[in-house]
Amino acid sequence: MADRREAFLIGLDIGTTGVKGIVITQEGQIRASAVAEYPLSTPKPNWAEQDPEEWWKATLKILKSLAVSLGSEKSEIKAIGFSGQMHSLVLLDNQAQVLRPSILWCDTRTDEECRLINETIGEENLRNLVANPALEGFTLPKILWVREHEPEIYSRIAKVLLPKDYIRFRLSGEFATEVSDAAGTLMFDVAGRKWSAPILSQFSIPSAWLPPVAESTDVVGKLSRPVSEETGFPEGIPLVAGGADNACGAVGCGVVNEEIILASIGTSGVVLAPSSKPRTDLAMRAHTFCHSVPHVWYVMGVTLMAGGAFRWYRETFTNVNGYDHLTEEAATVPAGSEGLFFLPYLNGERTPHRSASARGAFIGATIRHQRKHFSRAVLEGITFAMRDSLEILRHLGIPIRQIRVTGGGAKSRFWRQLQADVYGSEVAMVNSDEGPAFGAGLMAGVGAGTYSSISEATEGIVSIKETIQPTDEASIYGERYQTFTSLYPALEDTFEKIHKQVN
Ligand code: XUL
Repeated sequence: MADRREAFLIGLDIGTTGVKGIVITQEGQIRASAVAEYPLSTPKPNWAEQDPEEWWKATLKILKSLAVSLGSEKSEIKAIGFSGQMHSLVLLDNQAQVLRPSILWCDTRTDEECRLINETIGEENLRNLVANPALEGFTLPKILWVREHEPEIYSRIAKVLLPKDYIRFRLSGEFATEVSDAAGTLMFDVAGRKWSAPILSQFSIPSAWLPPVAESTDVVGKLSRPVSEETGFPEGIPLVAGGADNACGAVGCGVVNEEIILASIGTSGVVLAPSSKPRTDLAMRAHTFCHSVPHVWYVMGVTLMAGGAFRWYRETFTNVNGYDHLTEEAATVPAGSEGLFFLPYLNGERTPHRSASARGAFIGATIRHQRKHFSRAVLEGITFAMRDSLEILRHLGIPIRQIRVTGGGAKSRFWRQLQADVYGSEVAMVNSDEGPAFGAGLMAGVGAGTYSSISEATEGIVSIKETIQPTDEASIYGERYQTFTSLYPALEDTFEKIHKQVN
């Protein structure tokens, strides 16, 4: 460690359900933490919006609460780092006033705009210019939607920001973003780590709308006097750029260089592999984004409903509280659930199918199957969907030595073993389960000079708590996975038909 004096760091995560703030010591111990939630509004089907003012109010509440927890030690804060939900659009006018509610990453109103983007420049150019396909969740289609449907608002746009960058702006008065979040806008040259001039010009997006781009550990602002007076934290604390929530989550688990990858099962499921070059899947089934570590990228598969599908199953088909009972009963069923399969595409899918029409399904039910089989089939189906992403990473030739599991899916011993068996690989659990806010706190430490680099910070702080090896069941899952991969192609046309019938 570069500097061994007492130092506290703050990590703030501006998430979809709320803001989480933590104070960590330079040894990575949690000194204080607080969460403030806010609603998500769905004014129309497929829409998802949030008022940036809610993020701001929650942030102030969190900072005040952390200040109270720290007491006089709040003057020892060396820096604040930021993590945030990716892709969500914040529009400001020339007085820096928010023009409309933020259109969130999980809002899928933009199929028309995605089609337009594809028709205008084509998938191959997209891959070459921004390393990603036009997906409903990404930022550029949202801007084009506002241009088409709200021209009056569009005519007043002066700045386009992402959620955590808006909050950092409110704390400092400085406009900035950084590579990992900019990478998810579809306006960013991911390989070159800069805004994509050809994309901006193609869609007539003025470059003045976009903030300057830093690396994640750069200091890009200072805590302003008014916020200092309101929260009690000293004026001028360095504000470090931080990263996209997935990048911060990976950093918090020490997933920063090639060979160690992340499998995170929260509401959605993410399989993320750092790469020393910007590798892109030819069919762009996975995303290629900049990592928060300089000269490192990551390839990431996202299954939209992972833990969310298990929650849906519990709430819809059982009257059980919590998940322990369901995983215990699942454990009594043989691997493969006696031929019962589950497709978790309850909200369409991103990886590998990239389809808003994909649907969930139970396949192979017989009179023999009881609820315990369904419980196990749901867990297996979600984990097979995660393996789909893993297979893309393997196909890209990304070296994989260890898979670090995190999120709700890593809390159950049964599901951790299931992951090892389905992935056919050792899985490991690390000592921190604070999520992206922890990674943001470590980035703050690099920006403040507490650590010399992200790798130094994670090597000193993140350690392995448990490793699990695959068992004999891995070969059963190898076979069942092959069957799983045949189910979506068999049903794809039917899903399209159903989608058209109900929309
Ligand atoms: C990633 C994505 C989500 C959001 C959630 O592409 O859309 O994981 O980052 O905040």
